[in-house]
Amino acid sequence: MSDEKLKPDISVQDIKDEDKAREAMEKLREAIRYHDYRYYVLDSPTISDAEYDELMADLEALEERFPDLVTADSPTQQVGGEPRDDLDQVEHPAPMLSLQSVQEADAVRRFDQTCRQELGVDEIEYIAEPKYDGLAVELIYEQGSLAVALTRGDGRVGEDVTANVKTIREVPLRLRESEDQALPEQLTVRGEIYMRRDEFETFNDHLAEAGERQFANPRNAAAGSVRQLDPKITAERPLHIFFFEVLDALAMNLETQEEVLDALLEWGLRTNTEFNRLCTDIDEVISYHDELSAERDDLAYEIDGVVYKVNRLEYYEQLGRRTRNPRWAIAYKFEPRRATTTLHDIIVQVGRTGRLTPVALLDPVHIGGVKVSRASLHNQSEIERKDIRIGDRVVVERAGDVIPQVVAALEEERDGSEQRFSLPEQCPVCDAEVVLSEDKKQAHCPNIDCPAQLRERLTHFTSRGAMDIEGLGEKRVQQLIDQELVTRLSDLYHLSKDDLVSLERFASKSAQNLLDEIEDSKEQTLDRFLYALGIPLVGEHVTQLLARHYRTLDELMDASTDDLRALRDIGPEVAQSIAAFFGEERNRQEVKALLDAGIELNNPLYAGEDGDSPLQGLTFVFTGELERWTRDEVQRLVERLGGRATSSVSGQTDYVVAGPGAGSKLDEARQREIPVLDESEFVELIEEKGG
Ligand code: IVH
Repeated sequence: MSDEKLKPDISVQDIKDEDKAREAMEKLREAIRYHDYRYYVLDSPTISDAEYDELMADLEALEERFPDLVTADSPTQQVGGEPRDDLDQVEHPAPMLSLQSVQEADAVRRFDQTCRQELGVDEIEYIAEPKYDGLAVELIYEQGSLAVALTRGDGRVGEDVTANVKTIREVPLRLRESEDQALPEQLTVRGEIYMRRDEFETFNDHLAEAGERQFANPRNAAAGSVRQLDPKITAERPLHIFFFEVLDALAMNLETQEEVLDALLEWGLRTNTEFNRLCTDIDEVISYHDELSAERDDLAYEIDGVVYKVNRLEYYEQLGRRTRNPRWAIAYKFEPRRATTTLHDIIVQVGRTGRLTPVALLDPVHIGGVKVSRASLHNQSEIERKDIRIGDRVVVERAGDVIPQVVAALEEERDGSEQRFSLPEQCPVCDAEVVLSEDKKQAHCPNIDCPAQLRERLTHFTSRGAMDIEGLGEKRVQQLIDQELVTRLSDLYHLSKDDLVSLERFASKSAQNLLDEIEDSKEQTLDRFLYALGIPLVGEHVTQLLARHYRTLDELMDASTDDLRALRDIGPEVAQSIAAFFGEERNRQEVKALLDAGIELNNPLYAGEDGDSPLQGLTFVFTGELERWTRDEVQRLVERLGGRATSSVSGQTDYVVAGPGAGSKLDEARQREIPVLDESEFVELIEEKGG
């Protein structure tokens, strides 16, 4: 390809007469087709998007000025024409058959044996291809231009979806002329249109946002998009295609399916170069299935098995066909991942963190060799989006190791007795008022004493950044719960030595150590105590922020959602969560019980009445040793004064404070020309700023 063809040097404005215009347009079209081929078929573009857009804009400008010169196969014509009333029925040049499908390796071996017997040969080569779960189509090119596109229909007659298929970018409106592969006058090819899984998810989300009905899976979405009356709608859908069949290939001097696939690619028709494979014996054939089956979940698109085709085309006639299936090909399907069953109830589980999850109880059904009687329904929003009701017949999917999911309800099988479901307003374990997020995607029980959450809460409560009670790890926490020595957080502070030594693996000394630890934890800072409470969505950063703004716990507990939202760095969900937590009477009581048990809170982070923060907006990095403070202390000091202390030097760093023994951070600071302070300069800075 010459450079000129890559990027024709044309000044569109200067073109005045038709001949020049025609010539320029042809050049532009040729260039655009070439880049489409690089991009959509070979997946290796040679120009930038901007350069491509420029070519397209030039062509569009010329076509606008010379409308008589627009051709039906111009790359500008992929946007979709006018809507129609219905889709025409058109007969296929040759029937579109289906594949015999099997589910066991032995059946594939028998297929191979039968083929060899029939042909009287010892070995047969096969082409192995993924079996795409999309929509089969047939495309007819005449003199190199796309003339007709049909769906499979009943195999004999399909629907005319030409206008729609033309909008798919991976479908060339004109075939590539190739030196290696002459273009036949008429070329009929077949392939599968599909939607990628990630694009399907996004597309479905958009449908939901627009309040429209969603598609159950990528295949339905692809089929629905192609069988549209308005091609403009198809044009907006993310559709792709793989080609895998050429009619009358023998007449084109193609001898094998391998050559067919090569020819398709030469003509600019996208094939699956990543996974189509030549297998020279039956063991390779079988292992191809196993390999692809293992990779199935990682593929961008859905496949439901693999297809084996005898490679030599001259064998096809000899092997012949059954009524609907050719004898030269077979589909070896993967274990099905979906099944249909009845959803007879929905229960709500409370997770260790208080999260409420609706779970579908199903009439047991086998999916891929596993009995499934429960499936996740994720959250209230999902249930509403999919309109799943109790009593529905539902499609359940089990993908890999993932928990089974209810994919869709079969609306057409409803008899009217089905019941809509709503998450309960009270926690099913402890009756506390459930907090449901605005988008209905998250629901949790805000009660810190909810038995379902006790172990997780206690483990968090005693952990390092929280109350820091060493010697109370998960195992011991479990022991305390099992023996019912602790049923709420504050019970920890009423444990006696006798209680502890009664437990397994507790000697008098370790019991005393633990009691000392618990005692020590009573003197606590407000931020750590808040963190220990485990308020949903609230981590250390937020609790420090709260401690800076609220002098006491009482002040914070009385703050409204709006008060909290007014704080910098606290978003609406976090504010709602904090207010809901302290709005829950049981939580207030539990906090009181903790304080009554002797916990004393101090708040060194509090930044002052007017929230005065002398180091507001400044970021510090400390390196080397300091005399006055440990690293932890100085970091707290900075935070208390409204600044930030980070561990590495970056574009965000305002000052590096260096003591003796400073290392690479100091070099980094010099390189970036960030001001470096020693300890006394740092103190001066604070004083200057009024801290
Ligand atoms: S070859 C005789 N190759 O499966 C049919 N088909 O059951 C020759 N399919 O309608 C078709 N992936 O839509 C062939 N790599 C592949 C395929 C494939 C999916 C679909 C195709 C066809 C159905 C046949």
